[in-house]
Amino acid sequence: MDHPSVAAARRTARGAALLPAVLALVAGCTAGLGGSVGTPGAAGVRDPYFPRLGNGGYDVTHYDLALDVDATAERLSATAVITARATQDLSAFHLDLTGLEVRSVNVEGRPAAVNRAGSELTLRPDRAVADRLRTGRTFRTVVRYTGAPRTVTDADGSREGWLRTADGAVALGEPAGSMAWFPGNHHPGDKAAYDVRVTVPEGRSAVSNGELVSRRTSGGRTAFHWRVREPMASYLATVAVGRYAVRRTVTEDGLPVITAVDPAVAAASAGVPDRIAEIVAWGEKRFGPYPFSSAGAVVGRRGDAGYALETQNRPFFPGPPDTGLLVHELAHQWFGDSVTPASWRDMWLNEGFATYAEWLWSEDHDGVPVEESFGKAYADDANWAFPASRPPGAADLSRPPVYGRGAMVVHRIRQEMDDDEAFFGLVRGWLSAHRHGNASTADFTAYADRVSGADLAEVWEHWLDGGSRPAGG
Ligand code: TRP
Ligand code: ZN
Repeated sequence: MDHPSVAAARRTARGAALLPAVLALVAGCTAGLGGSVGTPGAAGVRDPYFPRLGNGGYDVTHYDLALDVDATAERLSATAVITARATQDLSAFHLDLTGLEVRSVNVEGRPAAVNRAGSELTLRPDRAVADRLRTGRTFRTVVRYTGAPRTVTDADGSREGWLRTADGAVALGEPAGSMAWFPGNHHPGDKAAYDVRVTVPEGRSAVSNGELVSRRTSGGRTAFHWRVREPMASYLATVAVGRYAVRRTVTEDGLPVITAVDPAVAAASAGVPDRIAEIVAWGEKRFGPYPFSSAGAVVGRRGDAGYALETQNRPFFPGPPDTGLLVHELAHQWFGDSVTPASWRDMWLNEGFATYAEWLWSEDHDGVPVEESFGKAYADDANWAFPASRPPGAADLSRPPVYGRGAMVVHRIRQEMDDDEAFFGLVRGWLSAHRHGNASTADFTAYADRVSGADLAEVWEHWLDGGSRPAGG
């Protein structure tokens, strides 16, 4: 049965005199049926760069993804069970999904009507279910889907989504590629826990985020079950399928370090687990407690991707990482993965701090003073192409000002504070205040203004937001 929405009722009501009568009719007939007055959730959350990314009206608490991957890692057959809490009374809601074939969708155990347009999947549950999708209620959506997941080309030409490799595939999702392998609320503002189950031909490994819960082989196929307990933004989710050598070591503090290394780069990657342990211990001294229940890395071959990515717990590297890159991606576990940008405009909070971590590491280990790294960044024209807080477009999110200028902003705060203990206290306090959450540039500047005891107006005006290179670096 089709009911006119309030908006439709408004369109049909030509005169003001008619409107109350129509509303009374709508109210009367919905009341008679148990009374859902829900409205559709929005198709996006108005991210400044990706207005249709994410969806309104609900908040995902958990994804259970079960992927059956074929021998070539070209096709998958999958089920996503999405547990979410309604943040408004819902008559319908969206999921983000690109490519793939949706076989069936049910909400709260009942089939739902599905409509697809671009990367928007609109789900319209039946009346009885919609009546239950009230603000604050938790509901379950099951999407069965199949097909060959796509490689997505970003605005800046880089490739993400599902990337085929020599003996498998790797899924990378910054900023919007995760919708190529599972349906969901793909804006960084909606973090959730995950269970990821991947079944692959025997002899292959499937690695994901979090910790391995179980591995079972039967009938020539192996099922790997990974669990992420701490909240994770969907752009940080990964699956890597291949002939990886998977190793589990433990740091002195008892933190599991799980690495998956492509045999083709095994020799050059031999030191990776020990270096991770060392960098995590160093990071804890600088930034406070490591935010997750395991660490690690996935090391593929050069060419598997065009960049490294800070996938949660386990950054991905296309080839053996040098120490600087390892430091950068591990620093992201604090800056980006634990404290996640509220929108893609806040990207400098990720890259500025991860770059600053590299400068700190070089000072502590290679005798390169932070002042020297700062001076180099200051002298580099590429860092001044635009304000760190305002990349002109989606293609600019990974350009130098977001990294180098972002790091200079961090260092300028330190200079204005002129007290290293207080400065690192501010950084740790910031991470602790937003641990496992989201934060914006405005949150950061307000926090620093409040806690630094320094006047940072000039830092924000000229170094963060200004149009050109300030004098006196
Ligand atoms: N975050 C990655 C890093 O710093 C780089 C990156 C990959 C990126 N894809 C991106 C940055 C998309 C911005 C947007 O290691
Ligand atoms: Zn980075």
